[in-house]
Amino acid sequence: MTTFNFDNFYFEYIDIENYDVIIQELRSHVLLKLNQMGANFYSGLLRLSEKDLLDNCPQLLNWFNKNNMELAMSAVHIMQAHGIGQLHSDSDGSMPGRLALNLDIENADVTKTKLYKISVPGTMHLTGSQKLPYIVYQNNADTCEQVTEYDLSKPVLFDYVKPHCVTNHTDHRRVAITLRFRNDPVYLLGRS
Ligand SMILES: [Fe+2]
Repeated sequence: MTTFNFDNFYFEYIDIENYDVIIQELRSHVLLKLNQMGANFYSGLLRLSEKDLLDNCPQLLNWFNKNNMELAMSAVHIMQAHGIGQLHSDSDGSMPGRLALNLDIENADVTKTKLYKISVPGTMHLTGSQKLPYIVYQNNADTCEQVTEYDLSKPVLFDYVKPHCVTNHTDHRRVAITLRFRNDPVYLLGRS
């Protein structure tokens, strides 16, 4: 088996069979959870129980099973109206796994994630509750070059090792879900 070369890979839109039904299930589940957690006005990343998610989203589980995908991590990213996120990476690439499946829960179909090439190192931080490492970069025009950008009008597989930054120049909050897998589903790339 050849190893996927991530050097020039940033993101790809993919097709998900039965997506309309899958996303409806997911939206209901996530919005209910945000209500239950009292997190409607939160900004940042919130971990969601993977078991709970799969129990409540059978169509998504069915698609995962068909494609040999085992869910390892699920989280929602919430950004309030007119928010600009930090320029960051979610991994330095030293650990296995670097592909995330990101889907629109609310208003993420019209908001942008920009991806960059950066010539200077960033600084390591840990997320508040989960203590997940992430790397923050100074957003400086001399050292940061935007390579591409995506919105979540379609499902996206993206390399979360690449520095990225989310902006929400709208009057509504943005909610996206990010899913990671036991093994990166690189075989889904290049099909669409
Ligand atoms: Fe991120």
